[in-house]
Amino acid sequence: MTHDLTAPAASRAAEGLAERAHRDPHRPRYHFTAPGGWLNDPNGLVHWNGTYHLFYQYNPLAAAHHRIHWGHATSPDLVNWTDEPVALIPGQDGPDRDGCWSGVLVDDGGVPTLVYSGRHGERELPCVATGSTDLRHWKKDPANPVIAAPPAGVDLTAYRDHCVWREGTLWRQLVGSGIRGEGGTALLYESDDLRNWRYVGPLFTGDATHAAAGDPDWSGTMWECVDLFRVDGVDVLAFSAWDEGTTHHPLYWTGTYHGDTFTPTALHRLDYGQRYFYAPQSTRDAQGRRIMFGWLQEGRGDEATAQAGWSGVMSLPRVLTLGGDGGLFQTPVPELARLRRDHVGIKPFALTDGTRARFDSVQGDQLDLEATLRIAPGAGARLVVRETPDGAERTVVELSRDGSGDTGTLRLHREHSSLDPDVDTEPRYGPLSFSADGGVDLRVLVDHSALEIFANGRALTARVYPTRPREAVGVALGATGGVIVERFDAWRMASVFDTPRPLWP
Ligand code: FRU
Repeated sequence: MTHDLTAPAASRAAEGLAERAHRDPHRPRYHFTAPGGWLNDPNGLVHWNGTYHLFYQYNPLAAAHHRIHWGHATSPDLVNWTDEPVALIPGQDGPDRDGCWSGVLVDDGGVPTLVYSGRHGERELPCVATGSTDLRHWKKDPANPVIAAPPAGVDLTAYRDHCVWREGTLWRQLVGSGIRGEGGTALLYESDDLRNWRYVGPLFTGDATHAAAGDPDWSGTMWECVDLFRVDGVDVLAFSAWDEGTTHHPLYWTGTYHGDTFTPTALHRLDYGQRYFYAPQSTRDAQGRRIMFGWLQEGRGDEATAQAGWSGVMSLPRVLTLGGDGGLFQTPVPELARLRRDHVGIKPFALTDGTRARFDSVQGDQLDLEATLRIAPGAGARLVVRETPDGAERTVVELSRDGSGDTGTLRLHREHSSLDPDVDTEPRYGPLSFSADGGVDLRVLVDHSALEIFANGRALTARVYPTRPREAVGVALGATGGVIVERFDAWRMASVFDTPRPLWP
């Protein structure tokens, strides 16, 4: 039984995983991935003594979600990463014997402290671990679980994941949950010492009847990975809307957190890619920036994933600011520019209806593309990436402007991204605002199967798996109606990960 393996025996069982993962042409090279096996949510994000720490849900034994550990990596700059020893391993017994699920890191008077969900059977309960000052060695609290059971007297759909912060002389904590018949919720607790918690009540509960399963802004029957933070004076309650078998997408409320309640202003979609940017977590760094990471799930079949030896990509870190429309404006951290190589700048030009420009000087599967476009009312621009020379495989980012006003749609077409019938090709889209003259700033980051799109601060993340990955390197731009390309810059992105990495660093 794999879950009884100790670390050295486990590494023998997983032999070859890291090498297989490294050989996969769909594996990103500048996005963070686990050395091999399975990765899901970002956890314990912190900028500690000048170093960024990224912990993550990790199964080093197989590319499957099972008996989750906490992997750990550090970075001086959010670009280059060093694998650190696995931080948490499920216990032989105890409340986390079936997995160390998602959580956060807080600074308890100089003592780095993790608050995470210990899984035992079908249940998750809050657990605590304290770390050495370099965050490399962790000791689980013998008093775990620190909350023995979910609050009594409420019919909850689930209970897990944590957001913990210091407020005055107390700690406060949110646990993700859902109230049956009502909607997802964040349960508020208070503590003096991170060990003894007093239940306050739901901070805020969504209304699961405002939309239905399948609607991209349905807030689900449970909120995973709740995250409360402030951006430019506005409070944000981010969560991953979940419902068994139907719903997995990240949303957020803007509003006001005061006392024991959160008063919402508006509900927003965090990423139009839905489950391809899931379970995000954020932290504030030393420069005061709000930095967020999310998990990019796989979009190919289970068999192909198992064979690849790895699953799950961490998003590029994003900076969140407040946009002009009261929603979050997202942009990849500027530090990523360090990876840019071989710049190609294309002089401004106009695309007329039905034209298409193929950029022979810009090709690749590791790219950073930046464009400023001006789109006439009723017109649309189509940026094609990962195109094979015969066009049989291609992925299309479409920006279309409505016939009047400055609204439109950002859409990703994946119907032709892959000829493999097991790959998910569902389109993804969401609303986009243009500037008054039809302007849009577009940034597209291509990293093998990982694709992150930013248009006027809105994000759309997805995965693509061309069957001829080495040939699917073409880039082109086309138009329906009038489009002016005011600026187009492209770079090849250098690799951050270019050798196989140990599964148990
Ligand atoms: C979100 C999630 C969390 C949970 C973790 C388990 O993707 O389901 O709710 O803590 O992943 O790995």
